[in-house]
Amino acid sequence: MNFSGTHILSVKQFTRADIERIFEVAGRMESYAERRKITRVMEGAILGNMFFEPSTRTRVSFGCAFNLLGGQVREITDVKSSSITKGESLYDTARVISGYSDVIVMRHPQSGSVSEFAKASRVPVINGGDGTNEHPSQALLDLYTISKELRSNDRNIDGMHIAMVGDLKHGRTVHSLSQLLLLYENIRFTLISPTELCMPESIVSDLRTAGHQVHETDDMESGLSDNDTVYLTRIQEERFDSKLEAAIYRGRFRLNQAIYTRHCQPNTVIMHPLPRDSRKEANELDNDLNQHPSLAIFRQADNGVVVRMALFALVLDVVQLVEESARDVTWHTKGRFEKNIPLQSQQN
Ligand code: NCD
Repeated sequence: MNFSGTHILSVKQFTRADIERIFEVAGRMESYAERRKITRVMEGAILGNMFFEPSTRTRVSFGCAFNLLGGQVREITDVKSSSITKGESLYDTARVISGYSDVIVMRHPQSGSVSEFAKASRVPVINGGDGTNEHPSQALLDLYTISKELRSNDRNIDGMHIAMVGDLKHGRTVHSLSQLLLLYENIRFTLISPTELCMPESIVSDLRTAGHQVHETDDMESGLSDNDTVYLTRIQEERFDSKLEAAIYRGRFRLNQAIYTRHCQPNTVIMHPLPRDSRKEANELDNDLNQHPSLAIFRQADNGVVVRMALFALVLDVVQLVEESARDVTWHTKGRFEKNIPLQSQQN
């Protein structure tokens, strides 16, 4: 596809060649994301970062990605402080904010709302998560991470075994990641969830039609065996009618050091889109795995910056210009991005 000026709303719009192009550009962004080099290619441009739902990583990493390219960021982080509470339509908001911005990232609790907003926008819109529907930039950074992690174990995305665990009904990250994997071949999916929170049937059926194997289970321990990657998710309590209902499922599926050692293959990559719910009653991914070399969750979050930089560079058509305006940073950052080194020893 021609990325220039397009909205990024769904993983369904990509071909496999598009993914390869995004990953190739993301790879070229690493020296900027790691603050070894500076580029100012987006100088003068403004990102409208509109988050009508809670967010830490997605909002901040989109903002950092734009800053790292030299652009500036304006944010709305709360529905209550925007005119949407005065009854303004998505159409009017889109017409107005797109007049102030060169590109917009939007997160909203309603499925389909970001596409509706994009129709009225005068500038490209990137979906930062719309309800339970999709989270395309997360799926891209997840796949970028999987590809990097598996490569270091001499494995590929094609033919891999992946387990997805938790709230597969409401989790937009697993919806987008599964649909992105339709572009790859011969994957074995083990979908581990309470029966009531299983993956939507339409996605399961698309995976099977694409030739993938899908095994659905509510037995975590058997589901964990023989996977290249285990992708854990949080019970999405904000999508339930009541917190009490969400509490029924919280803590049902947990991964910790003992369970990992007993049931996973030695190098199984551990992923989670974050935030992990670390409250005692949930704790789907225990802190006792924090130093485990296969725990990829923070590398995954770091990868969000390069993948989002790549999306901006492609959509605003500056990929070729990034390097032209590059220079070295003048401050000291050594060690911060070295893998799996606790902060203490990085400072020594
Ligand atoms: C996810 C989301 O918002 O869908 N978070 C994120 O963007 N990394 C997952 C979640 O909230 O559980």
